[in-house]
Amino acid sequence: MNIIWHDRSKQFHLYNDKISYIIGVTPVGELGNIYFGRRIHDKEDMSYVVNRMGLANVAVDPDTESYSRELNRQEYPSFGTTDFGTQAYEIECENGSRVSSFVYKDHEIFKGKKGLSGLPATYADESEAMTLEVHLKDDLAGMCLTLSYTIFDKYPVITRHAVFANKGAAAVKLTRALSMCLDLPDQDYDLMHFCGAWARERIPDVKRLSPGAVSIESKRGVSSANENPFVIVKRPLTDDRAGEAMGFSFVYSGNFLAKAECDTFGRTRLLMGIHPDRFTWPLDNGESFETPEVVIAWTSEGLNDLSQTYHALYNNNLVRGIGKNTPRPIIINNWEATFMDFDEEKILSIVKKAKEAGVELFVLDDGWFGERNDDTAGLGDWVENRDKLPQGMAGLSSKVNAMGMKFGFWIEPEMVNPNSNLYRRHPEWALSVPGRKASLGRHQLVLDFSRPEVVDYIFEMLEKVISGADVSYIKWDMNRSLTEVFSQGHEAKDQGTIYHRYVMGVYSLYERLRKAFPEILFESCSSGGNRYDAGMLYYAPQAWCSDNTDAMDRIMIQYGTSYGYPISSIGAHVSAVPNQQTGRSVPIKTRADVAYFGTFGYELDLNTLDDGEFEEVKEQIAFMKKYRELLQFGRFYRLRSPFESDQCAWMVVSEDKKKAIFALYCMRSNVNQLPGFLKLQGLDDDTVYVLRGEEYYGDELMNLGVTLTGLSSNILTTGQDYLSYVEVLEAK
Ligand code: GLA
Repeated sequence: MNIIWHDRSKQFHLYNDKISYIIGVTPVGELGNIYFGRRIHDKEDMSYVVNRMGLANVAVDPDTESYSRELNRQEYPSFGTTDFGTQAYEIECENGSRVSSFVYKDHEIFKGKKGLSGLPATYADESEAMTLEVHLKDDLAGMCLTLSYTIFDKYPVITRHAVFANKGAAAVKLTRALSMCLDLPDQDYDLMHFCGAWARERIPDVKRLSPGAVSIESKRGVSSANENPFVIVKRPLTDDRAGEAMGFSFVYSGNFLAKAECDTFGRTRLLMGIHPDRFTWPLDNGESFETPEVVIAWTSEGLNDLSQTYHALYNNNLVRGIGKNTPRPIIINNWEATFMDFDEEKILSIVKKAKEAGVELFVLDDGWFGERNDDTAGLGDWVENRDKLPQGMAGLSSKVNAMGMKFGFWIEPEMVNPNSNLYRRHPEWALSVPGRKASLGRHQLVLDFSRPEVVDYIFEMLEKVISGADVSYIKWDMNRSLTEVFSQGHEAKDQGTIYHRYVMGVYSLYERLRKAFPEILFESCSSGGNRYDAGMLYYAPQAWCSDNTDAMDRIMIQYGTSYGYPISSIGAHVSAVPNQQTGRSVPIKTRADVAYFGTFGYELDLNTLDDGEFEEVKEQIAFMKKYRELLQFGRFYRLRSPFESDQCAWMVVSEDKKKAIFALYCMRSNVNQLPGFLKLQGLDDDTVYVLRGEEYYGDELMNLGVTLTGLSSNILTTGQDYLSYVEVLEAK
């Protein structure tokens, strides 16, 4: 890895073994893109990429008389001069002008990577990454801009973000500040994005790019289940096994925009950042604004390789603290077992049975606080409901601990029910416009986390409950989108900052709780997977993937999630049948076979199982304990897509390639078919692996494949849906 500055040509070359990222100062002094892709040789001067050929109807720069921004690839473009594409940023000056031009001033190159202030970001020490900060200035606006680039040594990854600083006398308004723009020289691309809704999150969709623009976005205040802030731009023939692709992952949990724009000259512009709608950030003299980070990864070896880069990078350089590279505890959660109708006795009977099965941690879900007996009341009142928990959280946690299990509980700190003591005392603490009715979501309002005093208050309440008990885990939920985003704690001129300040408030509460209680493992949740993003992973290393716990649907949800997020982050539990969301009854083996590829746990009362099923559960837990490190942190390969057939298959391989586990799920039985072969991936060609007592070479398993007849004579022909197979391979 290195970053070279060519002083004469004013070009930077960032490279590692796999990629090169080359940018340079353009003839008008701004920053332009020269190249991004496979590593190429370094050269002193690549200004031959600058196009000076005039085209009809094109505006040119008055000094050069030949250079048009429109006909050259920009690095962080503005609108208003000679570029007519979507701009990366916009500054409104005091006189109302929105024209700006940032020219190169100087730069810094250093080892390692700086943190972002109050924002989540990947981190790296001096041996892991190098950073380039290019300082640019717009003298007329009195503004400075720093574009920051980090290249990792081990990963084909560049991270980017921008910082605006007002050094002038006049106040300005930042009306758009995306984190990155990447101009690519052609348009032969598909855009893959991950869309859905509650209970069907992150389903991949692929669009062929062609002239015009595609926007993937959230304006819900959270990153959302509807669109995920992760997109892939790939060559049309690229699939999981082969081909070129780039990933763009936004390390942020609020409104976002990811835009792919193809112009009519055959080129593609990609942009990602905070959604510019309802974003206005006033900057007075001396103030600055830092955008969140985008993590750009590249591959020429297919989407499995791209996903593996994100998995490893996020496990090693994003997740922090207690969950980092640590196999996750096996959890039992009482939500689907009791909903809010529980008392201590009921809870302890669930815990007792779970302990007998080998479960390690009990999570008390919603309903333990305030007047919370259904979802119309109580949010905001973070004190134990003594009718349900006579000795509070302290009493329950010590009883759970005494039974040999760790203890955790559920919170939804960003919310308030109108029917709560907190709201009655502080109605002005909810986001709402005075004089207008505030929309409800699940009978609740959103607390104004842009106000530090609100965050302080919630911190203090939670701190009291947590510090009185023995707590190892917290599930942090967030169950509605933001509406009427107006803060009664801010002036009119600052109302455009509230969406972002809200997210910063969430991050600050997370950070304070993490610091105060470093032994607590956080799991994020937002009606399931409504806020499953890289930003959250910085604070909470795992996320409840979906409220849909039906194994057949989970196959698709977890498959889609795996494109951008590590298996260790995927909150996955076995729940009761018929499934509460779909009504489907899937065998308990299949339910576990799906949940193994995640954090694993149970979302049901094990007392309700018959003896045979309970024995199966004990075996499942023993299996997970034996293999969880491999399942959660091994190299993950998608083998067969549930979106292309009635089967799904995936596998994990240990770093030394000596162990692997593959899973095959038959979602729907098909009559009168040949069983076929399943080609594995990631094994060592020459190693002999033992599978079900038989020996096979790695190359045999990867090229000829596992015969499904050999695996089971009846996977396709029993007439039974929902069967699954999980098999362990070990080097001889
Ligand atoms: C959300 C979560 C569930 C559960 C409930 C509790 O829907 O996604 O897992 O915690 O809230 O109200």
